[in-house]
Amino acid sequence: MNMDNHLSTSAPIRSKTNLCFWVCAFVVALLAIFLAVHTIPSLCTEGPCDLQEAIVDRLLNRSSLRHLLSVHRRRSHHHHHHRRHDDKRHKPECNSTKWDSKIASEYNAALVFIVDVKGCGNFSHLQDAVNAVPDYSPSRTLILVDSGVYREKVVIAANKTNLIIQGQGYNNTFISWNDTANSTGGTIHSFSVAIFSPNFTAYNISFQNTAGPPSPGMVGAQAVALRIDGDQAAFYGCGFYGAQDTLLDNKGKHYFKECFIEGSIDFIFGNGLSLYEDCTINSIAKEVPRGISGAITAHAKIR
Ligand SMILES: *[C@@H]1O[C@H](CO)[C@@H](O)[C@H](O)[C@H]1NC(C)=O
Ligand SMILES: *[C@@H]1O[C@H](CO)[C@@H](O)[C@H](O)[C@H]1NC(C)=O
Ligand SMILES: *[C@@H]1O[C@H](CO)[C@@H](O)[C@H](O)[C@H]1NC(C)=O
Ligand SMILES: *[C@@H]1O[C@H](CO)[C@@H](O)[C@H](O)[C@H]1NC(C)=O
Ligand SMILES: *[C@@H]1O[C@H](CO)[C@@H](O)[C@H](O)[C@H]1NC(C)=O
Ligand SMILES: *[C@@H]1O[C@H](CO)[C@@H](O)[C@H](O)[C@H]1NC(C)=O
Ligand SMILES: *[C@@H]1O[C@H](CO)[C@@H](O)[C@H](O)[C@H]1NC(C)=O
Ligand SMILES: *[C@@H]1O[C@H](CO)[C@@H](O)[C@H](O)[C@H]1NC(C)=O
Ligand SMILES: *[C@@H]1O[C@H](CO)[C@@H](O)[C@H](O)[C@H]1NC(C)=O
Repeated sequence: MNMDNHLSTSAPIRSKTNLCFWVCAFVVALLAIFLAVHTIPSLCTEGPCDLQEAIVDRLLNRSSLRHLLSVHRRRSHHHHHHRRHDDKRHKPECNSTKWDSKIASEYNAALVFIVDVKGCGNFSHLQDAVNAVPDYSPSRTLILVDSGVYREKVVIAANKTNLIIQGQGYNNTFISWNDTANSTGGTIHSFSVAIFSPNFTAYNISFQNTAGPPSPGMVGAQAVALRIDGDQAAFYGCGFYGAQDTLLDNKGKHYFKECFIEGSIDFIFGNGLSLYEDCTINSIAKEVPRGISGAITAHAKIR
């Protein structure tokens, strides 16, 4: 009662101050809305704007602002979507028609493995495929190695007989490692690939040792790309890349046709009895002050 009386007596003055208060509040609110509308899109780019959205939603429910926010939301959604799509595209697209090798029928291969570093084949490492070759097989096994650089040291044991390895061209398929005489306890162990089995054949593939070239007089830097100890091996369109001691033609009778052999010092060596036909032999030996710039062969076996 008392309070009612009090209110009614002071009503005229109060309504005047009330009016002023509401006008001021309205102006401040308008200003706040104006600021919010113009700053939110830029703020949102720096972080989550869920809180801002909720506040603005409650402050005012205006279609233009909703539209603005929904556009932004859609954009960030699209962004996430796009990234997920990119991830999918990074998965390999496997091409099953790629390996229609004529070799398989020419050699009547009993078993064919595909090695693909991208994961599209039966194996992604050559050594794993070699291990799966039947021991002492009288029939041919063909291993197709897709384009790419295979970083591995590969040993083809003596019981992996009658094996054929085919690459996608010596410029495209590389078996590559980087051991040296020092890192393995001897030049003959520094190979990237070693073949001990008889009747080995390779087509269109490269064997590489990426250990750096030795500086003149350096000891222990010899690095073999391929060591061949198996009898009756043939290499067609193959590449051999190294610096010192690239190709260790160690034991047996071997045939090299249209191969590319690169190195600096004594880079074709060993006790093998081999025929090199239509091969390119590329010396990368640098001129040194004394005028010695490498040698192609050791063992004085060229005839
Ligand atoms: C905004 O208005 C719509 C109708 O126009 C209503 O459905 C919605 O609940 C309102 N949102 C808020 C946060 O008030
Ligand atoms: C698959 O490989 C074959 C042979 O290399 C090629 O002709 C063909 O265009 C490739 N297909 C796709 C989809 O990449
Ligand atoms: C290699 O993979 C292909 C495709 O997945 C399959 O058809 C074939 O049987 C596999 N070969 C071997 C020898 O496992
Ligand atoms: C094949 O050779 C490997 C390596 O020398 C050896 O471990 C394995 O026992 C041999 N397999 C057979 C059946 O002799
Ligand atoms: C490999 O590349 C070299 C240098 O680019 C080229 O001369 C040669 O013809 C290529 N060989 C093959 C089989 O593609
Ligand atoms: C071979 O290269 C790797 C790096 O790829 C290096 O860590 C390693 O020491 C190298 N091995 C030798 C014997 O130089
Ligand atoms: C190697 O190939 C020849 C000719 O195809 C064959 O007569 C011989 O038995 C093979 N050697 C082995 C160990 O399989
Ligand atoms: C090896 O590559 C050469 C040159 O690209 C090609 O003519 C030949 O058919 C290939 N050999 C095999 C067995 O694929
Ligand atoms: C190889 O080892 C010998 C003896 O330990 C050392 O004198 C030489 O410098 C080494 N060479 C390289 C290339 O590391």
